Amino acid sequence: MATETPPGTDAGPETGQASTASATSAEDSERVAAVTGATGFLGSALCERLLAEGWTVRGLSRPTSDRGDLDDVEWYVGDLFEPETLRSLVDGADAVFHLAGIGLWSADADTVERVNREGTGYVLDACRAGDVGRLVFTSTAGTRRAVGDDEFATEADIAEPIGAYQRSKATAERFVDRYAAGDGDAVTVHPTSIFGPGDTAFTAQLLSMGLEPTMPAYLPGGLSIVGLEDVIDGILAAYEHGGNGEHYILGGENLTYDRAVDRIATFAGGSPARLPVPAAAIHAAGPVAEVVGTVTDRQVFPFDRQMARLATDRMFYSSRKAHEELGYEYQPLEAHLPPALEWYRTACQ
Ligand SMILES: NC(=O)c1ccc[n+]([C@@H]2O[C@H](COP(=O)([O-])OP(=O)(O)OC[C@H]3O[C@@H](n4cnc5c(N)ncnc54)[C@H](OP(=O)(O)O)[C@@H]3O)[C@@H](O)[C@H]2O)c1
Repeated sequence: MATETPPGTDAGPETGQASTASATSAEDSERVAAVTGATGFLGSALCERLLAEGWTVRGLSRPTSDRGDLDDVEWYVGDLFEPETLRSLVDGADAVFHLAGIGLWSADADTVERVNREGTGYVLDACRAGDVGRLVFTSTAGTRRAVGDDEFATEADIAEPIGAYQRSKATAERFVDRYAAGDGDAVTVHPTSIFGPGDTAFTAQLLSMGLEPTMPAYLPGGLSIVGLEDVIDGILAAYEHGGNGEHYILGGENLTYDRAVDRIATFAGGSPARLPVPAAAIHAAGPVAEVVGTVTDRQVFPFDRQMARLATDRMFYSSRKAHEELGYEYQPLEAHLPPALEWYRTACQ
């Protein structure tokens, strides 16, 4: 686990910071953002928005990361386990957006625990050691589940974690809460299932269920589907208006899979999956999906046997707190379909 005190020495002039092409200098810009996970699905879209809004954006990138066309980001090359890089990344930043994380769809349980839990510890160590403004930590709605007869989970419904992903995110949340209760200033956001262009996991699978005649079945259960741009609005609103130490669910429409698949098909003129996969088959299919995923290198939902259980439940969420305290709003699924469909047809079909 990462230490509570700064573990590292000062970053040398060569350490961590990569050359930047056309980046504006921090002095020229009003606000500086440091973004971990800047090369990911959500992080790259957040960087684009921050740049469009005039921020100076520093992004953490692993040497192997695909940085896309984010040429105006100042890249800091390293990973979550390099304290010097993290310190130079966050020092002097008005906002630290910690999004780097990993799920069971792309890593084994040990790596998931290490990246999400220890990685967050290292980011907090760097924030403690530097001069930073507010930290916004992106966790997951999965650390919350509705209890009893309630249909919608709220921030207060802290759940017993299922699997390494939820467990590591729940621990990271406690680290962040402790940081906020001390000298730090931090807010945690909990997005539900994010739908948008560039996501080869959830978004591509949901679209395939709505569009592909060869996709015979949809999943039982239901979920909260939130558009990529809505989540970014929520993250920025949490930075601006969130209370120190507070948690905010950033959700979207709560839909059963069959409803979501039907609406995609209606909008796009596709062939929706007609039959629900029986819950028992999904439970049994968890381990199969693990094997298929390993062999084909494709992300298959449910990602493992523990997540399989969740695929058959209705995982509905309330975004009321974010609405009331942050002014957060979400759009219906159809508002997010055009860019997602355009990407899917180019990149996935
Ligand atoms: N997508 C969703 O539906 C969803 C829902 C709720 C919460 N979230 C959370 O939102 C965050 C972003 O998710 P995403 O969907 O954008 O995931 P993603 O596309 O897989 O991006 C993950 C990012 O984390 C980086 N990363 C992973 N391990 C790292 C390490 N050891 N050091 C430094 N960087 C590392 C990745 O770098 P590389 O580019 O090098 O791989 C990438 O930039 C995650 O924390 C996730 O748990 C996502």
